Amino acid sequence: AGSGNGGATGGGYPDKNITFVVPFSAGGPTDTVTRMIAEPMAAKLGAKIVVQNVEGAGGTVGAGEVARAQPDGYTVLMHHIGMSTAPALYKDLGYKPLEDFGTVGLVTEVPMTVVARKDFAPATLQDLVAHVKANAGKVTLANAGIGAASHLCGLLFQSAAGVKLQEVPYEGTGPALTDLVGGQVDFMCDQTTNTSGQISAGEVKAYAVTTPERVKSLPDVPTTAEAGLPKLQVSVWHGLYVPAGTPQEVVQKLSEALKAALADRAVVDQMAKLGTTPVPAEDATPQAHRDKLQEQLGTWAKVIADAGVKAS
Ligand code: MLT
Repeated sequence: AGSGNGGATGGGYPDKNITFVVPFSAGGPTDTVTRMIAEPMAAKLGAKIVVQNVEGAGGTVGAGEVARAQPDGYTVLMHHIGMSTAPALYKDLGYKPLEDFGTVGLVTEVPMTVVARKDFAPATLQDLVAHVKANAGKVTLANAGIGAASHLCGLLFQSAAGVKLQEVPYEGTGPALTDLVGGQVDFMCDQTTNTSGQISAGEVKAYAVTTPERVKSLPDVPTTAEAGLPKLQVSVWHGLYVPAGTPQEVVQKLSEALKAALADRAVVDQMAKLGTTPVPAEDATPQAHRDKLQEQLGTWAKVIADAGVKAS
C-alpha cells in the first residue's frame, strides 16, 4: 500500500486523486485535449484524475501554480506552445520552464484556423488583410491573453500582414469563440480542437488553416500558403508537466499512462474529428518533451524579438 503521498520514491504512486491543471477556461482547446486523455490515463494509473481550470494571463497563472506545487505527482499541468513563448513576453514570469518543471511527454500538435464572425465582410484571407490594413484601429482580434497560442498566432498574423490590431483578451478561447459566434468580436486565430464544430456548423467564417497541408476534417478550408499568407504558419504542441523534483518513477508512470491514452481508439478518433492526431509513442516521453521545449524556447524568443515585441 502507498504511504499516503506515493512515497518519496513514488513506489505506491498513485494512491489518491491526481489534479490535472488546465491554465485556460473550461471548454477551450486545452481543456478539450486534457479531458480527452484524462479518462484513459486514470484507468491506466488506477486513480481518479480531477481536471481543474486555473485561468489568467495567457496560461501563466496556472503554470505558476503548478511550478510551486508539491513535486509528488498529484499535480500535473497540461500546457502548450505558450510554455515556450511566455519567457519572451513576461518580464516577471515567476517561473523558469526548464528549471521549475519536469516534462512528462508531448501529447498532440494542433493546427490553428483563422476564423471570423460569420457576417464579417472580408470573404477571403487576402480580403481580410486588405480590410485590416484599411481599418486597423477598428478591427478586433480575440485571444486568450498574452502568452496564449491565439495571442502568438495573432502576433504572427499582424507581423505577416504588417498591421496592428485591437486585441480583446479572454481567459481562454472557449469563451472567445462564444463571443465570435455572437458577433461581439471580429476574428481570431484558434485551434481546430475548438473551432472545428463551429466551422462545420457555419457559425463562423474560416479563412485558412495555419499548417502546410490542409486539415483532413476541414477539407474546404485552404492553407494560409494557398490563401496568400505563407508566413502565417504555426501549430500548437501540447505537453504534460510536473513540478521539478517529482520522483523519476512517478514521471515514468505518468508517461506510460499518457502513451496508453494516446493509443486509445476513442482518443485517436476524437482527435481526428477535431483536426489533430496523438504524437507517436516515442514523443510521449520526458526527454522528447524536454528537447522540444528547449528548441521552442529558442525559436520563439527570436521570432518574438524579430516582430519587435518586448516583454512587459
Ligand atoms: C485555450 O485552451 O483556451 C487556448 O489554448 C488558449 C490559447 O492558448 O489561445
